Amino acid sequence: MSIPDPVVHDLLPEGYFQERLIADVIEGLSAMPKTLPPKWFYDERGSQLFDEITRLPEYYPTRAEREILTARAAEIIELAAPDTLVELGSGTAEKTRVLIDRLMTATARPKYVPFDVSPEFLRASAIELVQEYPGLEVEGIVGDFDLHLGQLPIGGRRLVAFLGGTVGNFSPKERSHLLGELVSGLVPGDHLLLGTDLVKDRGRLVAAYDDAAGVTAEFNLNVLRVLARQLDAEVDPDGFEHVAVWDAEEEWIEMRLRARHAQVIRIPDLDLEVSFEAGEEMRTEISAKFRPDGLRDELATAGLELVQLWTDAAGDFALSLSAVR
Ligand code: SAH
Ligand code: TRP
Repeated sequence: MSIPDPVVHDLLPEGYFQERLIADVIEGLSAMPKTLPPKWFYDERGSQLFDEITRLPEYYPTRAEREILTARAAEIIELAAPDTLVELGSGTAEKTRVLIDRLMTATARPKYVPFDVSPEFLRASAIELVQEYPGLEVEGIVGDFDLHLGQLPIGGRRLVAFLGGTVGNFSPKERSHLLGELVSGLVPGDHLLLGTDLVKDRGRLVAAYDDAAGVTAEFNLNVLRVLARQLDAEVDPDGFEHVAVWDAEEEWIEMRLRARHAQVIRIPDLDLEVSFEAGEEMRTEISAKFRPDGLRDELATAGLELVQLWTDAAGDFALSLSAVR
C-alpha cells in the first residue's frame, strides 16, 4: 500500500522572507544598540547547526526535556486527552515521537500538526512521520508565530506542544502577546505543553550557549551569512565573534556578535551602511530562564491554568501542562 504524502500548508505570503528580513534588518541595524531578530537563524544551515547544538555535551536542555517527556508522556496524554498534537517550532520533531507513540493508542483519530517557519525541516519531518506512523494524519503548517498562531486547525481536542525552551527566545512582552494569540485560537479543554529552561548557576548556563567546540558560535555567526546571501550584504563574518552573557537581572542569556575591529556592513540594494566600532556588540538572541512561580503567573495572565509541572531529576528544565480556561 502506498503512503499518502502529508499535507503541508504554506501560510507565508509571497515574498515573505525577503520583505520581513529587509524590514527587520533596517529596524534592527538602525537601533541603539543594534539588534537582529532570531528567526533568521533558522535557514537550512542554521537548522542543521541547531540540531548539532542539541547533541553538545554542554547543551543540557534537550536531554533534560527528553528525560521528562519519556517519563511523563503517558501521564501527559492521559491528562490532556488530545486527538490532535500541534507542535510549535517543531524543527526535526525528534523528541515529539515520545508523545506521538502515546497519542496513537489514546485516540481513534490521531493527528499531528507541526508548525515551523523553516520549510525544509518541516517537510522532511512530516514525510518521515507519515511513514513511521501508519494511521497518523499529518497536516504541516509553514508559518510565523508572529502572524499565524490564531490559525491553527480546529476539530478534535488539541494539545499544543511548545518545546525546547523556544518561548524563552521572546522578550516578556512578546511572550505575553504570543501566548495571548495562541490562547485566542484555542477553546476550553485544549491544553498547552510548554518546555522552559530553569534559572541555575551562571557557569552552566553560559557554557550551554558558548560550547567548547564552537558550534553555537557558528550558529550565531550564521545570521551574517543569511544577510550576505539573501540581501547581497557586504559583511565579513570573521570580523565578528560570538558572545554569550548571563543577565542576572533579567534572568536571560543574551547572545551577541562583537565586532573584532572597526568595520562597516554595507547593503547596497537597501542603501544601507552600518558602522561598527571595535568591540561594539549587537544583540542577536535572548534565551530566558524561568522559575515555576513566575511561569504559573505568566500562564494565568494568558488564560491558562497550570495542571502539572515536571522537571528532570537534576531540576534543570521544566515541562508544564496547562489547560485553557
Ligand atoms: N522544538 C525543537 C526545535 C527548537 S529550535 C526542539 O525542541 O529541539 C526553534 C524552532 O522554532 C526552529 O525549528 C525554528 O525554525 C522555529 N522558529 C523560530 N522562530 C519562529 C517563528 N517566528 N515562527 C515559527 N517558527 C519559528
Ligand atoms: N530555544 C533554544 C534555546 O534558547 C535556541 C538556542 C539554543 C539558541 N542555542 C542557541 C539560539 C544559540 C541562539 C543561539 O536554548
